[in-house]
Amino acid sequence: MYSEINLDKIDTASALPAEEPARQYYFMAKCREWVRDFEQKNGHLPRACVVNMGCQMNARDSEKLRGILRKIGYAETDSEEADFVIYNTCTVRENANLKVYGRLGVLHGYKKKNPHMKIALCGCMMQEPSVVEKLKKSYRFVDLIFGTHNIFRFAELLFTAFLSDRIVIDIWKETDQIVEDLPVERKYPFKSGVNIMFGCNNFCSYCIVPYVRGRERSREAKDILQEIERLVKDGVSEIMLLGQNVNSYGKNLSDPMTFAQLLQEVEKIEGLERIRFMTSHPKDLSEELIQVMAGSRKICRHLHLPLQSGSTGILKAMNRRYTKEQYVELAGKIKKAIPDIALTTDIIVGFPGETEEDFQETLDVVRTVRYDSAFTFIYSRRTGTPAAAMEDQVPEDVVKNRFDRLLKEVQDISREMAERFTGTQQTVLVEEPNRQMDGYVTGRLSNNHVVHLPGDASLIGKFVNIRLEECRGFYYMGRPV
Ligand code: SAH
Ligand code: SF4
Ligand code: F3S
Repeated sequence: MYSEINLDKIDTASALPAEEPARQYYFMAKCREWVRDFEQKNGHLPRACVVNMGCQMNARDSEKLRGILRKIGYAETDSEEADFVIYNTCTVRENANLKVYGRLGVLHGYKKKNPHMKIALCGCMMQEPSVVEKLKKSYRFVDLIFGTHNIFRFAELLFTAFLSDRIVIDIWKETDQIVEDLPVERKYPFKSGVNIMFGCNNFCSYCIVPYVRGRERSREAKDILQEIERLVKDGVSEIMLLGQNVNSYGKNLSDPMTFAQLLQEVEKIEGLERIRFMTSHPKDLSEELIQVMAGSRKICRHLHLPLQSGSTGILKAMNRRYTKEQYVELAGKIKKAIPDIALTTDIIVGFPGETEEDFQETLDVVRTVRYDSAFTFIYSRRTGTPAAAMEDQVPEDVVKNRFDRLLKEVQDISREMAERFTGTQQTVLVEEPNRQMDGYVTGRLSNNHVVHLPGDASLIGKFVNIRLEECRGFYYMGRPV
């Protein structure tokens, strides 16, 4: 198994392997020599800080970056006053973008104090040519820039940056490659994300993800299952299957398979206790999936089903390919088949052309479906997407007002919905010590609700049966039974 390879056994004087991942392990060995050299000269290991700025998929990518950094010998730190800092960026909304420029200014200050410091940028924002132009012009202190498609080449790029005095930039427009078997460093020992597919083919008209993440590519089921089996052996009991639209998993495989079929295979893995997944596009959610979820012991009682808008007209302009009625019917069907399920969603307000009537349709769906929680977003104009060129962009004050009304509605409903579980017995997977209350730990139920319960660090990673004693809005207080 590649990830168990001892870098010291790789002969860096021999020819560079052409195949992946062997090529990257060769560069990891080269980087390791550089790290040893650094340690000798400076009396300490170089420290690396990986900052994740995006969604679960980005977070998983960050774990891959950390895995490689650890393998080559970096010490990890949370402080950005480090020898190597890498921002794994997101560009889904404008403010994610602006944050990066602000923080780079601060990093520049650190770099002036520490001449060894290297600064790297990767992730979705780097796939936008205008961003890279701006960085090249005004942020020349950055050492390394790469994108989403060649992240598997991190070791090679890092080594190139070690040797170079100039900014190293490598952005690929596309890739059909999926490189397996690189090191990963998990944030939690007991739970893990698992990519099942990359990219997106849906082109929702407001969304930049298909442009920065490329076309949809599914991983082979055998690779996914093998990864999960290894994770379970390594102490993982909960996994989250990741993809921009997991419901279309498997369509482009040489041996096509559905997402529901994949779930059934994952369910068979002994020692795995909980299966989550993210994200489900309503247009591709099948009857088969509902049946598999309803009959499963391991699939969690939570479904994230992004609505985006409740107005059929706006949904059409968004290119979401479902109507208000279809969505509401689907949500109803799911709740009927799996009564204890928690439904959550994403909603955008202020999409171009959205009228008060359209917005009322969104509120209507929120009141009908009654979500356990909802992420609400103000529409952000992303250059290059079809929606950015649409007329009738909604004025800021109107959007803000709608956003506030929507937020109040979803919060009121969330609170009411949470009450329905008070007094029930549930199983919680304990995740961390409680930061506010001494002697308490915090975990999640199958339906993704947060629970605080009395206990100490020895419970972390364990399943505990509890009674939900009190609901305090967005979380519960529980007691072991
Ligand atoms: N693939 C997922 C979404 C990924 S992006 C899906 O289809 O559900 C996460 C969320 O960001 C989206 O659901 C959407 O609500 C929001 N989002 C995407 N682009 C946006 C934009 N331009 N402005 C505001 N919110 C946006
Ligand atoms: Fe974006 Fe739509 Fe793809 Fe989700 S499904 S990533 S919202 S284009
Ligand atoms: Fe952001 Fe890229 Fe995820 S744009 S939301 S980090 S796929």
